[in-house]
Amino acid sequence: MKLLFILSLAAAVSAMSIRPRQSGGNGGSNNDCVADGNTPQDDANNDSDNAADDTTNGGDVAVADDQTLVFFEIGGVPGNECLTFRNNGEIVDAACVNEAIDRQITPTSLNGQDVLRVQRTFTAGFRPDLVDVQACVGFNGTAFRAEDCNAQGIEFVTFNNGQLTASGGACASGHDDLAQVTVDTAGNTCATYTTTEVDATVA
Ligand SMILES: *[C@@H]1O[C@H](CO)[C@@H](O)[C@H](O)[C@H]1NC(C)=O
Ligand SMILES: *[C@@H]1O[C@H](CO)[C@@H](O)[C@H](O)[C@H]1NC(C)=O
Repeated sequence: MKLLFILSLAAAVSAMSIRPRQSGGNGGSNNDCVADGNTPQDDANNDSDNAADDTTNGGDVAVADDQTLVFFEIGGVPGNECLTFRNNGEIVDAACVNEAIDRQITPTSLNGQDVLRVQRTFTAGFRPDLVDVQACVGFNGTAFRAEDCNAQGIEFVTFNNGQLTASGGACASGHDDLAQVTVDTAGNTCATYTTTEVDATVA
């Protein structure tokens, strides 16, 4: 009886360890680039329990890198290539300041979908809808900007192969004369971004 119990426990454990690998295949190769960041961060959180990870990030452990990044637009405004969030949630090219929380974005998984979590917070004077909620990069039909991660009618944006792409195919196409991020709704002409891994600044 005891041996049988141990054998079935071993089978259950190996089934658990296989599952995240299989779902990780959905994540695309991009996430692999920053996957190295997982280990130290998990250690820092002292969260070695995979089952708990499954619960908090929708079961897709491999996709949730949770490595905070600063995005640099190739061909961006010279000297101001890094993406930043204005108080109203709009995204513009600005100077690269890795420690500035308004430059920081964290690819993660929420409610089972990949999102780009916005690290900065927003105030009622500019974005009452974003006070005390988690903001993600979203596409509202015209612009990529900070949106409530739980908002309805918003396409969420992910980072794939150097491009920022909404779930419906629109992509960030560069910037206008005011350094504001532009969108190609058809996803034909997409700007390319590189990223720098940074320590998330505490809000
Ligand atoms: C991690 O958590 C366990 C259980 O709470 C504790 O015994 C251990 O000391 C912790 N390790 C670190 C590095 O904090
Ligand atoms: C989408 O965002 C842009 C930029 O902030 C804004 O001007 C526009 O009104 C928004 N559209 C909707 C439908 O909320």
